[in-house]
Amino acid sequence: MLNLCVVGAQWGDEGKGKIVDLLTPAFDVAVRYQGGHNAGHTVQIGSSKFVLHLLPSAVLHEGKTCVIGNGVVVDPRALLREIDELRALGITVGSNLHVSASAHVIMPYHSEWEAGSEESRGDRRIGTTCRGIGPCYEDKIGRRGIRVGDLLDPDVFRRLLAENVAEKSRILPALYGREARTIEQYAEEIEACIERIAPYVANVTVLLAKKLREGAAILFEGAQGALLDIDHGTYPFVTSSNSVAGGAATGAGVPPHAVHRVLGVTKAYCTRVGQGPFPTAMGGEMEEAIRERGCEYGASTGRPRRCGWLDLPALRYAAMLNGFHSLALMKLDILSSLDEIKVCTAYKYRDSVLTDFPAETWKLEECEPLYETWKGWNKPIAGCTRFDDLPLEARVFVTRLEDSLLLPCGIISTGSDRDATIVRKGKGLDEWHLPMAAISR
Ligand code: IMP
Repeated sequence: MLNLCVVGAQWGDEGKGKIVDLLTPAFDVAVRYQGGHNAGHTVQIGSSKFVLHLLPSAVLHEGKTCVIGNGVVVDPRALLREIDELRALGITVGSNLHVSASAHVIMPYHSEWEAGSEESRGDRRIGTTCRGIGPCYEDKIGRRGIRVGDLLDPDVFRRLLAENVAEKSRILPALYGREARTIEQYAEEIEACIERIAPYVANVTVLLAKKLREGAAILFEGAQGALLDIDHGTYPFVTSSNSVAGGAATGAGVPPHAVHRVLGVTKAYCTRVGQGPFPTAMGGEMEEAIRERGCEYGASTGRPRRCGWLDLPALRYAAMLNGFHSLALMKLDILSSLDEIKVCTAYKYRDSVLTDFPAETWKLEECEPLYETWKGWNKPIAGCTRFDDLPLEARVFVTRLEDSLLLPCGIISTGSDRDATIVRKGKGLDEWHLPMAAISR
């Protein structure tokens, strides 16, 4: 069976939660491979809305094996909170969940450190979710982190905690004028979670190798988006992990060739939360209107998202980095009331025209978007389930996008509900026999 990686093609919040939810029936195993509870994957099923932060969105489907890979950073308190919230809604989370023993633990001092670090940056702050994600990865790379498996041995945990608190209690006051708490205070918060987390801890590499041998179909769930990737995004205004498809192999502990296909998820426009360059920002009333219509507020933090026009150089870059086989185009219905839709095809940088997304963030900060104006359809399309039922201009919009990116668009979303979706045949997703009633060319 073919495995698929679902990746955000922009700055996150593209609608990966809905796509993963739609695809899950065709897979046996779902794996989160990077990030932490900074992610917010919203899934709307009928009148119920679920926001998942740390667990794979596939957990909403009974009987799926759900895995949190070594590349994820796990806050034990956030994990238990999410499990409890889901259970209260009648969703089973039990022996179907496996958390990698090699995933790093977000400790309470990570968010204290992050608050100080963000504050000290002033205008150049990253605008993080302040959930301790970045500092936890810093400790991982600094080889002083605490891993989920370390929680299982009280002596190992206490030794690592003591080493870390000794260090943090020097760093926090010196750099940020903040006092660290005591070892006992930190230990208490985390030790209260260990008994409940222990049954989920697993050697995920071995587990996934077995699943691969058995021919299980694996869905790798990316969080954030390609342009927030630590190596390839708009550094330093990025998250601290590899959100691109390449991260799936290292972050899940599978060979690269186990990731057979990649689906890129993009909105029909762009959004961004947090700081950092955003060349196609709409500004003014248009931005406010799209934000309201598209409910563009952070699923994790509630922050208003900046809204911009579709950015083709950025999308081409994401397609190149991830090797998309197909695209899921989200929120097409949000553009419905427009007569004209702007699409950025290149950037003006000083006296030159750039068609490639620049590698230097300072260069991107100076880029001005060069737009084409594509005809809008100005008719409601919310809930449409057949490509042929879309207005001509909407079909042309999709086709022009496919031509510009040299990519098929396999899924078009026309509303937040699971059913408000067009799945198209012959567009790179046929292998999985997606369980959709409405399929058209
Ligand atoms: P961090 O991941 O909390 O370190 O935040 C780094 C940057 O990534 C900030 O600009 C955040 O707003 C952004 N970010 C992190 N997670 C998400 C997400 O799930 N969607 C959109 N942006 C995110």
